[in-house]
Amino acid sequence: MGGFAALLQCPACGRGRLVEGDAAERCVACGVTFPRVGGLPWLYPDPARSLGEWRNRLGLYLDEMTAAAHAARLDFGSAISPLTRRRVAALAEAYGGQVRRVAELLAPLALAHLPLGHATPLAFGTRLPLGQDLHSYYPNLHRDWAWGDGENNDAHRLVAGALGRPRPRLLVLGSGAGRLAYDLHQSGASELTVALDINPMLMLAAERIVRGGAVDLYEFPIAPRTAADAAVLRRLAAPVPARAGLHLVLADAWHAPFAAQSFDAVVTPWLIDIVEPAPAAVAAAVNRLLAPGGRWVNFGSLCFPWRRPSMRPSAEELLEIVASAGFSVEDRSDQDLAYMHSPASRHSRIERVFTFAADKVRRGPRAATEPSPTAWLEDQDLPVPQHDGLALAAEASRIRTIVLSLVDGQRSMAELVRIVVEQGLLPPAEATSAVRDLLERLHDDAARSRGA
Ligand SMILES: C[S@@+](CC[C@H](N)C(=O)[O-])C[C@H]1O[C@@H](n2cnc3c(N)ncnc32)[C@H](O)[C@@H]1O
Repeated sequence: MGGFAALLQCPACGRGRLVEGDAAERCVACGVTFPRVGGLPWLYPDPARSLGEWRNRLGLYLDEMTAAAHAARLDFGSAISPLTRRRVAALAEAYGGQVRRVAELLAPLALAHLPLGHATPLAFGTRLPLGQDLHSYYPNLHRDWAWGDGENNDAHRLVAGALGRPRPRLLVLGSGAGRLAYDLHQSGASELTVALDINPMLMLAAERIVRGGAVDLYEFPIAPRTAADAAVLRRLAAPVPARAGLHLVLADAWHAPFAAQSFDAVVTPWLIDIVEPAPAAVAAAVNRLLAPGGRWVNFGSLCFPWRRPSMRPSAEELLEIVASAGFSVEDRSDQDLAYMHSPASRHSRIERVFTFAADKVRRGPRAATEPSPTAWLEDQDLPVPQHDGLALAAEASRIRTIVLSLVDGQRSMAELVRIVVEQGLLPPAEATSAVRDLLERLHDDAARSRGA
């Protein structure tokens, strides 16, 4: 891996160099071993845990697709028109086909070793960013590698223009299905290009594609243009295999597995407004990764989802944040671009894309470090302390368990509410709506996952 291997730094201890073994990278300082998954370095701070979490997400995805296929097969009987029957049958076939294709693509996640059932992730939650599901950005795969050049060329033109000149070492954070990183690399914007993303479905597909292979997957447009567009089997492929020097890495951008000052340019395409760290923390992380004089190019929307208004900066405020993180803003532009315009769909958007180029003129403030793990997390033999939050969670689970165990297929809502009140679990004024909301939510969730 040459120049690429020299950039790597352990995302677990944040200090050690990584050395390459036969099937894994290992930290020389803390000894943590990072596997390769489908040939890609799996460089999450806690590799076993993140592997387990993504396996669970894959399990959920396959369950949901299987349920959708089953629901479509059941629905076939209620379709009267031959056109509708044909469309529903094609959908059932496509959902089933998608299960097989995705299972094959993600076989490197070793699903056979899936340790947990469907209920376990629901019970325990996840450490991965909320909202980052396996299929969160699934349409990007089709836009990048199957819908033609339009949107990809626009993105490439704007980002390459903002980079200004070739940058020897380029990092694309949140590279998704990989087309922008590939296009920048192919056009000579860099000698060594690293595409980093957290999502194994996008990355394992991208790896196959940029090496010259093809991946066949279904597109399910949200507003199909014709009956035949309800499920479209697409061949995802690159124009030519990538030239040497393009590396794909599975990692978390905010625990990026690289030494400080490793890159001459960092690109953040459609990323900063969908991630949990605030823009100031993003700017500090990018600053750390850049060599002095290195350039940060940001490209995408500013559609911050947070409730607190102070967390949703305007373009002007964002540039102020960037400047105080040690950058000089050299260029900025607004451009109206088509976004997610599938030839098979009636739905697409026009986005006013905000691009800026900022050069690192000084070291930024240190990125906020996470509190170091508490002693009982480090040493598994220590007792786990009790606290109010745990007691509250335990009480909530107890009430929920009692309510759910009362549902025996015979009792009515009125009876359930009466028992809940008699047992002192809830005051009468709240019991009806609380029990109703809980059962309705579980009923809706179950119906959704059956595809009803
Ligand atoms: C809106 S998509 C943009 C994808 C790609 N840049 C593009 O323009 O098509 C956001 C991407 O960020 C990735 N992502 C989200 N959180 C991340 C994190 N903490 N580290 C790395 N990638 C992340 C997602 O997996 C997804 O691919």
